[in-house]
Amino acid sequence: MQESKKTDILIIGAGPGGYVAAIYAAKKGKKVILVDKDRVGGTCLNIGCIPTKAMIQAVNHFHDAQHGAAYGIQAEHVTADLEAIIRRKDDITRSLTEGIIHLLEKHQVTLLNGKAHFVSDKLVEVDAQDGIIRIEAEHIIIATGAKTKHLPFATPKSERILDSEQLLSLKKMPQKMIIIGAGIIGMEFAFIFGRLGCEVRVLEFLPRILPMVDKDLSQRLLRYAKEANIQITTQAQVTGIQERRDGIEVTYTEKEQEKTLDSDMVLEAIGRIPETQGLGLENTQIALNPNGGIRVDNSMQTNVKGVYAIGDVTQIIQLAHVASHQALVAVDHMLGGNHTMDYNAIPSVIFTTPEIAVTGKTEIELEREGIAYHMHKVPFSANGKALIQNNHFGFIKLLYHPETHRLLGASVFGEDAQHLIAPLTMAIKHQLSFEAIKETIFAHPTISELIHEGAMGVLGEAIHYLG
Ligand code: NAI
Repeated sequence: MQESKKTDILIIGAGPGGYVAAIYAAKKGKKVILVDKDRVGGTCLNIGCIPTKAMIQAVNHFHDAQHGAAYGIQAEHVTADLEAIIRRKDDITRSLTEGIIHLLEKHQVTLLNGKAHFVSDKLVEVDAQDGIIRIEAEHIIIATGAKTKHLPFATPKSERILDSEQLLSLKKMPQKMIIIGAGIIGMEFAFIFGRLGCEVRVLEFLPRILPMVDKDLSQRLLRYAKEANIQITTQAQVTGIQERRDGIEVTYTEKEQEKTLDSDMVLEAIGRIPETQGLGLENTQIALNPNGGIRVDNSMQTNVKGVYAIGDVTQIIQLAHVASHQALVAVDHMLGGNHTMDYNAIPSVIFTTPEIAVTGKTEIELEREGIAYHMHKVPFSANGKALIQNNHFGFIKLLYHPETHRLLGASVFGEDAQHLIAPLTMAIKHQLSFEAIKETIFAHPTISELIHEGAMGVLGEAIHYLG
């Protein structure tokens, strides 16, 4: 059966880029069709941000129950039930995706399940269960996301070589796990499984873990990794994976020496690549960048007028919240607005334990770009709530322009980094001066007071630390 449809906006991919674009465009009165070959919510809701954070929440409870003595709480025989943790995580993702489907229905977005591919620049075919649906759209948004990058020698479909999606459905706790790649995915999973009692070994090609954050933060995390059963080897290039009957063997070179390691399973966490396969881009004029991402301008429009791309498929920044913002920019632009992306204040949270969060520029970026800066560190120990939470080891690092005193970047190491990064992002985005932050009253006793304290510190007026 073949059906034809016409719409104002067709969106391919229902992740945090695509579904946000759909609801936003529908709110603006547009007729929207949203297509996805899989579940609504994309990587973030189904196999990424939400499920991993649900697992981290469970692991934190496990850890707190085991280590309550510092607070005067005793608990014995605390155990972690991996199946129950996974079940709760599945319930959360299900409830969130159902919520989004409900919102799409309420906004009269037509949701189609099927694989979409371009026939030409403005014509798309969807291979749906009941047959082919041809869709002609005035505007199209490609929001197909990214997929795991695999090592060329990793056997596909092996039960012992997993990607982050497969690891989220594990039924039995492995005793030993090797994680290849110490990026965000690798380190978040290392802390999840290490703190559940698994012996984790991380192999990273570069000289240090989490190369996207400043060295002082990644270095500080090493201490906590050790406590969490995580052993890390840097400058280790994995060159082979051999499956054995009762396990798996990983070969790598470290300082020109070939070494091997045994384990129960391997997690491949060496990055994610744009999902453009099978999209039929060869039938269009749409151009790609050399990194495989779809090329877009600052309004998220591709080189084909009326066709936009947002999120991981552009390979600009692989973060759900960036995709969602790009969605607003793309829709506003196609409606005639002049909305463009500003990448100067993008927050990013790494949910290790302790957490790391960064926003704006890092020291590495400022140095690379030749931008002068001053650095000021605010210790968590200056804050009462941090002490109450046994969270006094962290710090906030403020990077600001020596003359204008504008905040250029900030990093946070410690629990609650995820919350502290939002006001810091706002300060960068809206160019708040340290005087303006000083004049803002922060509630006591909260960890957010550290931002006020930091602004006072930069002005030479810190009250609770020597500054
Ligand atoms: P990544 O690019 O952050 O890290 C991959 C790491 O693997 C790099 O450090 C790289 O040097 C290393 N590597 C590559 N090949 C190797 C080899 N043969 N042997 C040893 N090491 C090797 O990629 P990752 O962690 O897979 O994450 C993908 C994307 O997902 C990232 O862009 C990240 O921003 C995003 N993400 C964000 C999260 C968050 O915001 N909390 C959570 C999870 C993912």
